[in-house]
Amino acid sequence: MGLTIGICKVSWPRSTKTARIVCILLFSLILHGEHPLSKESVTVTFVDPEWSHDLTEHTVVADDRLKDFTQETGIGVKHLPTPETTLDQLDLVRKLLRQGSSTPDVSGVDVIWPGVLSEELMDLKPYLATELSSINADVAASYTVKGKLVAAPYHSDIGVLFYRRDLLRRYGYATPPRTWDELEQMAARIQKGERARGQKDFWGFLWPGAAGEGLTCNALEWQVSEGGGRIIEADGNISVNNPDAIRSWQRAAHWIGWISPPFVTSLQEWDAINDFYHRGTSAFYRGWARTYLLSVRDIPSVRDTIAITSIPAGKNAQAATLGGFGLGLSRSSRHSAEALHLIRFLIHREIEIEEARADYESRNWPELYDPTAILRAKRSSAETGKQQVSGVVARPSTVAGEKYEEVSRAYIQAVHSVLLGQSRAPEAAASLERELVRITGFKTGPPSRNRVPTQKSLGRVSGARPAAASTTASAHDSLK
Ligand code: GLC
Repeated sequence: MGLTIGICKVSWPRSTKTARIVCILLFSLILHGEHPLSKESVTVTFVDPEWSHDLTEHTVVADDRLKDFTQETGIGVKHLPTPETTLDQLDLVRKLLRQGSSTPDVSGVDVIWPGVLSEELMDLKPYLATELSSINADVAASYTVKGKLVAAPYHSDIGVLFYRRDLLRRYGYATPPRTWDELEQMAARIQKGERARGQKDFWGFLWPGAAGEGLTCNALEWQVSEGGGRIIEADGNISVNNPDAIRSWQRAAHWIGWISPPFVTSLQEWDAINDFYHRGTSAFYRGWARTYLLSVRDIPSVRDTIAITSIPAGKNAQAATLGGFGLGLSRSSRHSAEALHLIRFLIHREIEIEEARADYESRNWPELYDPTAILRAKRSSAETGKQQVSGVVARPSTVAGEKYEEVSRAYIQAVHSVLLGQSRAPEAAASLERELVRITGFKTGPPSRNRVPTQKSLGRVSGARPAAASTTASAHDSLK
């Protein structure tokens, strides 16, 4: 293992702790500017799965940020996009990182990829001690494999329910739905009413049901909320074949053709959000908080009519899937000092932007920061009578490690076949269980009833510093 500092490759034997420490010190000195980085024209490549995520002009801002970096440091950045879906992105990033010679220096790393890419990426822990102290431990753990920080947490995200404020008002609802039962009732009633008003193609509830990672995120929320566990539990038990998970898939299948259009089973996330935002023919949509926060300020139709709230609760819990991206540094990078410089720069800049955004939001949308909105949300969830937990759930990527992609593909295939009516849920769950045993070698067991971390404890849903300026999706609830 070694690092390239400028043009000189410094290697250390694994056992030589002192050499390691000297390297880290050297590195820190360089990064703190005591030995200015060479202004020779080094260009680092940054492959960025989030490149197209921003629905607003902010993509330009991101490029401005990279220009600022170049101006400040003299280091150029080649900013490269990736394909649209998570599984295709992983294929590409893995291929690029493994090809060795012209590997990208910095890669965006989806929160579920660290186990798959841990061999290709450097341990960033020794270099980011200060930053790590302000990053939520649960988020940092998602990027850690066997003690190694495979990527620096950059943007965190959680699943949320988008809803049309104008329509809720039209049908006399003071608050968005808190449970799946309420969502079904409200979606069905609004759909019926809107169709009667002439919108024949109106549907109550839109969600990305294509066979992709987005479906894993959605279906995990359905089943955790009903007590159906996390597919594979943190202790390594494969729990997916249980009656609560099965019922939650059946419930979703029943939505199709009732409150959700038949074409949901082919909607990827970007198709779904575009349909919800721009066609405006549905009342509710399951998406990501960050998408909303990036678009609400700049797309007037979104600002005027759309809000977000927590994913509805089932009989056991309210659960939102943890998403987001970190920044990883390739082990074969020939410019690792410069690449690390870029990672730190982006993380620090993100913190500043988050602060500015929080300030802007609190001035312009005081209700986002209204603690009573959070209290109202908590109260109404307590009123459903059952003992509920509210929180964020991680996909089983840490426990599945390098096998996560196979696990997720098998899960997607099983749930999708139930949604399409090609298999019955009990059989699909039983055969998925066998498949997961084959893939992982783990044993089967019951779902764990462990508490999921609360959204509040994860803090802000986007940004490099989730511990600061805490807010939750529920805080965005108030109907104007
Ligand atoms: C979002 C999330 C990411 C997730 C993907 C699924 O981009 O940030 O973690 O894997 O959606 O499509």
